[in-house]
Amino acid sequence: MSKPLVSPQIAPQFQGAIGVFDSGVGGLSVLRAIRAALPHENLVYVADSGHAPYGDQTDAHITQRTLAVGNWLAEQGVKAITIACNTATVVAAKSLREQTHLPVVAIEPAIKPAVALTRSGVVGVLATSQTVQSAAVARLVELYGAEKRIVLQACPGLVEQVERADLHSAETEGLLRQFVTPLLAQGADTLVLGCTHYPFLRDSIQRVAGEGVTLLDPAEAVARELTRRLSNNGSLSTQTESGRVQFYTTGDMAQTQHAVMRLWGATAKVHAMPLD
Ligand code: DGL
Repeated sequence: MSKPLVSPQIAPQFQGAIGVFDSGVGGLSVLRAIRAALPHENLVYVADSGHAPYGDQTDAHITQRTLAVGNWLAEQGVKAITIACNTATVVAAKSLREQTHLPVVAIEPAIKPAVALTRSGVVGVLATSQTVQSAAVARLVELYGAEKRIVLQACPGLVEQVERADLHSAETEGLLRQFVTPLLAQGADTLVLGCTHYPFLRDSIQRVAGEGVTLLDPAEAVARELTRRLSNNGSLSTQTESGRVQFYTTGDMAQTQHAVMRLWGATAKVHAMPLD
């Protein structure tokens, strides 16, 4: 595992903040929900872009990265960690929880609510290859899918389009058609956005799927769970001014800066993260 490095310049800024991470910029869709629910909290976001996409890597690699980023955030003094990456959750959330005393709130594909919502009885799940193949998703399907049909669809290539902030090109639209059309052909009326990058493609997915199809993104549920956990242990921020939001990446600075400005806002400034 990489040895976490402590930077004296940034350590004090992390004290008492909420750490949020993803393999790249997709977790900004979760950060957005956390920011809306908890505007007074300081937030630190890590895009592990130097190691993205997680969805095509081995379980060992995803676990190693999840522990490296999670431990680094813990060493910088965050009070909670949010795994804003379904792939990291289904492969490695358990390992991270075993390694830290901090609350770890982790997103996972919204299969349970989708099963409750579907009228056709068919739910489609769009996710990375690793998420689709994971034992954790197989368990969710077994738990909630007895009466319904749950069709898992891996979507290789979509994460890369969002990392490039290429949301509306013909190439992106072509990939979406390739992944969504077979689900519709099988009767799905409810689609789970099982990767945090996909909410940034929500409009295009809805266009391809049609207005009658429900899209599910559990980001707000994650923000609510985080709020509940912090409230229960009495560690919600008491500051009255807006919290700071800081962005770090392990990857290409120019590409991540470009994507963060497109997906979060023009004034966002990305810093290099001192962790290989
Ligand atoms: N945002 C990650 C997820 O939710 C994408 C994983 C990847 O890098 O492939 O699964």
